Amino acid sequence: MNVLVVGCGSLGGVIAVRLAGRKGLRLEVLNRNPRIAEAASGQGLRLRAGGRWHTARVPLAAAPLHPPYDAVILAQKANGLEQTCRELLPALAPRGFFLTTQNGLVGLELARSLGEERVVPGCVLWGASMTAPGVYRLTASGPFLLQAGESQPLSEARALLSRVFPVKPCPDIAAALWSKLAISASFTSLGAISGLRFGRLAAAAEGRRLILAIGEEVLRAARSQGVEPGALGGGLNVRRFLQPAEEGGYRAARKHLLLRLLGWKHRRTESSMLDSLRRGRPTEIDFLNGLVVRTAERAGLPAPWNRAVCSLVGEMERGQREPGEANLAELAALAGADGHAR
Ligand SMILES: NC(=O)c1ccc[n+]([C@@H]2O[C@H](COP(=O)([O-])OP(=O)(O)OC[C@H]3O[C@@H](n4cnc5c(N)ncnc54)[C@H](OP(=O)(O)O)[C@@H]3O)[C@@H](O)[C@H]2O)c1
Repeated sequence: MNVLVVGCGSLGGVIAVRLAGRKGLRLEVLNRNPRIAEAASGQGLRLRAGGRWHTARVPLAAAPLHPPYDAVILAQKANGLEQTCRELLPALAPRGFFLTTQNGLVGLELARSLGEERVVPGCVLWGASMTAPGVYRLTASGPFLLQAGESQPLSEARALLSRVFPVKPCPDIAAALWSKLAISASFTSLGAISGLRFGRLAAAAEGRRLILAIGEEVLRAARSQGVEPGALGGGLNVRRFLQPAEEGGYRAARKHLLLRLLGWKHRRTESSMLDSLRRGRPTEIDFLNGLVVRTAERAGLPAPWNRAVCSLVGEMERGQREPGEANLAELAALAGADGHAR
């Protein structure tokens, strides 16, 4: 099988190290970062996982070397993803497919525009970071979620990934992606705004209230699309977690306790959006909270908390604001000023 991984950042690097050297698989990685290329050609790509170092020699290139590809794993951010797909479409084998890993719904949108036989949307429940060029760390364990089904691209994607990752087929990948969006739009975005690691964010009552306020808007936006977010693995039922207690959701005390536990589990995780801001890169805000605002507005629903998040992250992207804990109070004021505060 001829496989191309696009992007050699946190996620792409881990996928590449895991797939490298597997029998019957020819792997290439598309990389545009010269420091990662230098590291790969020197010591190789290195991954710290399960208390051990794994090193792999992986061919990195700035352009595809050996098309056609049976599978192209898209491990770049959502920004520019559609353009990448259009450029790589001629490099796909006749029955080849793209596999998406992005948070947000861009994988579903690509499947709609390029066809379900060409795009397999994935939902990544594990986490990774790149600690130095070409050096990776697994920050959270968890499976790849893929839509259950037996179509040719789904079966091949499942067979490929399950060689090196736990893969969980799920009945509704759209529901899974919305559930994950509730987490990214709250934890990831608030982690960027506040500069706090997830543990400190969820340890503070104000942080937990903001996470819930943002998440409730995500739930309402999902429902406006006829999607019911549900269990996401690890026992977390996102719907019961986010909907009000009187509608069958968990009681407030339980929500706060669960958030503290979730924060503790991921206490050392820093927001990947914070990393993008520090590196002066555009964030995925438009594909996360921005998408929630657009979806809610189309359905005539208010989304002041997600709108306020977009506004603060926009200021940070333009260099008008620095990450800091004080931004959390400002976020609450901004959402309140929108006339819809809770
Ligand atoms: N990291 C996680 O734990 C995690 C978990 C779940 C989902 N995700 C999702 O996975 C996606 C990737 O995240 P990440 O954390 O791996 O991001 P990342 O560390 O920023 O890595 C993305 C890499 O792709 C490169 N890239 C972008 N466009 C490219 C192109 N056209 N050709 C070749 N390389 C290209 C970037 O290069 P530059 O540095 O030059 O921009 C960067 O090295 C995101 O959408 C994220 O939402 C991440």
